[in-house]
Amino acid sequence: MIDEKINQKYLKKIKLFNKYNKHYYDLNEPLVKDFIFDKLKLEILNLEKKYDFLSHKDSPRNSVGFRPSKLFKKVKHKIPMLSLSNAFDREDLVNFEKKIFNFLNEDSKQIMEYSAEPKIDGISASLIFKNGKFITGLSRGDGKEGEDITENLKTIKDIPNKINSKDFPEEIDIRGEVFIQNSDFKKLANKFANPRNAASGSLRQKDPNETDKIPLKFIAYTFGFEKGLKIKSQSEYLEKLKEWGFKTNPLNKTIKTIDGLVKNYNDIEKKRGEIDFDIDGIVYKINNFKLQKRLGYVANAPRWAVAHKFTANSGISVIENIEIQIGRTGALTPVAKIKSVNIGGVIVSNATLHNEEEIIRKDIRIGDTVLIERAGDVIPHVISVDLKLRNKNSKKFFFPKTCPSCGSKTVKDFNLTTKKEDAVRRCSSEGYECEKMAIEKIKHFVSKDALNIEGFGKKIVENFWNLKLIRLPQDIFKLDFLKIETLDGWGKQSVANLKYSINLRKIISFEKFIYALGIRHIGLENAKLISKNLRSSKNFIALSKNNNFDDLINIDGIGETQIKSIKSFFKNNTNLNVLNNLDKLLKVKDAESQKNNGIFNNKTFMLTGKLSSMSRSEAKSIVEQNSGSIVSNVTKKLDYLIVGEKPTNRKVEAAKNLKVKILDQSSWLKMLK
Ligand code: IVH
Repeated sequence: MIDEKINQKYLKKIKLFNKYNKHYYDLNEPLVKDFIFDKLKLEILNLEKKYDFLSHKDSPRNSVGFRPSKLFKKVKHKIPMLSLSNAFDREDLVNFEKKIFNFLNEDSKQIMEYSAEPKIDGISASLIFKNGKFITGLSRGDGKEGEDITENLKTIKDIPNKINSKDFPEEIDIRGEVFIQNSDFKKLANKFANPRNAASGSLRQKDPNETDKIPLKFIAYTFGFEKGLKIKSQSEYLEKLKEWGFKTNPLNKTIKTIDGLVKNYNDIEKKRGEIDFDIDGIVYKINNFKLQKRLGYVANAPRWAVAHKFTANSGISVIENIEIQIGRTGALTPVAKIKSVNIGGVIVSNATLHNEEEIIRKDIRIGDTVLIERAGDVIPHVISVDLKLRNKNSKKFFFPKTCPSCGSKTVKDFNLTTKKEDAVRRCSSEGYECEKMAIEKIKHFVSKDALNIEGFGKKIVENFWNLKLIRLPQDIFKLDFLKIETLDGWGKQSVANLKYSINLRKIISFEKFIYALGIRHIGLENAKLISKNLRSSKNFIALSKNNNFDDLINIDGIGETQIKSIKSFFKNNTNLNVLNNLDKLLKVKDAESQKNNGIFNNKTFMLTGKLSSMSRSEAKSIVEQNSGSIVSNVTKKLDYLIVGEKPTNRKVEAAKNLKVKILDQSSWLKMLK
């Protein structure tokens, strides 16, 4: 208990440290004088020294030698540096492959080839070579824009300065990971918390001589912009990299089946401790470049790659109780309340049991001794029960068939991708009718990626809810501040701050607005896609009036699941009330128009009939990548009707009558040259 108090105190300081940092570096407006900042930093470091169970990724210990990004010139990446979606088990891999086959409209019995590359946990870098010479080196930055760290990268021995091979492309942006070997890290362990921070800190030293003092390594694995690269697959690219003088990961492999991927994953995970660099998973990439190109990207991750993550630290504890938590979307999550245990420096007292099936499958009971695992920022979870230690008094847990918060029936949905019943049981209420869901929805509404109302944390939402100050998101904009001022813990200044933060967010982008509504299956990325396509909240609200939800299927990345969810959102009167009220209270900015420079710019297309060796999703993706848009109705505004096998005759006739150009698949693709 005492440890928990110390941990709380520590986390409070870390939070404050982050706030000061953000204002200083990102917002350019320091909140406090330097000496106060330094004092706080010292307090955190001293606490860590005294209590070795304290550690946090945002601790100043992890940013020793880290220089503010202001010191480096910002440079735009010609091709963005993307991230990867994650997979955690075999089932995720099977779904990943299934989606690929669906997109490509290929028979799933066909064999797919993967490049399997251990994912080094370092810092990614982009190296631009022109005529064989290393010209510019950039950090990833936010993926769109990086920092010019050329001079620091030049000190790394693994990066060739000049390449004379005849087949080296005229221009290429070679990308890979900068890292420090564990054996070298040992010598620096008193300065940095882990090898990744050591690499990051060293690479971003203002003085390249400082970078030179730390033995950094570079492993290459992909490329961005290129001119004159003549190869057909990832495995061929990895071979070429070696020929050109780059280091590649010695554990890279080409593998043909999911079983093969899983075996390789298990083999490498076992060897993990013996490898001299930190890996946090394995990246799988579709090997064939032609297929990669067809698959393209969704939002900020490729469809053709996935990172299969390793699991992390574990500890043993006892389950004292099992409680049900109700999430924003109604998911009932069983949570094990466990005896506090220190796992990898963090005190853990809750662990998720995921769902009903998991409890049954693992036969988890109250009173059991269990193995708990914690990976990164993810909520710790129960791995297994030690049956040998099972107590006679252990109690079975029965999953509730009605929602513990509102009493509605709980249901399991049918998943359209996996074609199976969901494992998760949900409260069947649409949202604000269930108290627990409503509270979670409001927490989501004010959260960082949604409205981002600073200072309006989860505790405040709960507090205001209990005081009946809020029931729906719009209530946030009609708060009785005079009353709040009289509440415990509040004063003139803190109320003024809250008022200020709320007013600041009355102007909001359309994508954040959609995300903030908390519609199930509409996360940040899908909200972005919808915003890009519909452009304004007016069009979004009109979806319900015009009943044209099905048009959303024309947005690349949006599928039936999302549309079904949007439809049921609009069916609920409270949701409509929230939407209309927010529309009046907020100024929702229209989405900016995109840069339109593709060959289908300003052109609309409609598809009818089955296309050969291509799914509808792929056709959608091709049109959008070339700045065109897909529509669902034949009207005068339609430019082209693309006709596949067995088209709907009514659509073809309508197009003929309206003199819309009719194309077959091959003449459509010819337009792309
Ligand atoms: S490919 C679009 N290959 O993982 C493809 N990335 O989450 C993205 N990483 O920032 C890059 N090993 O720092 C790729 N063999 C590998 C990788 C790898 C490590 C890192 C990289 C990137 C992150 C993506």
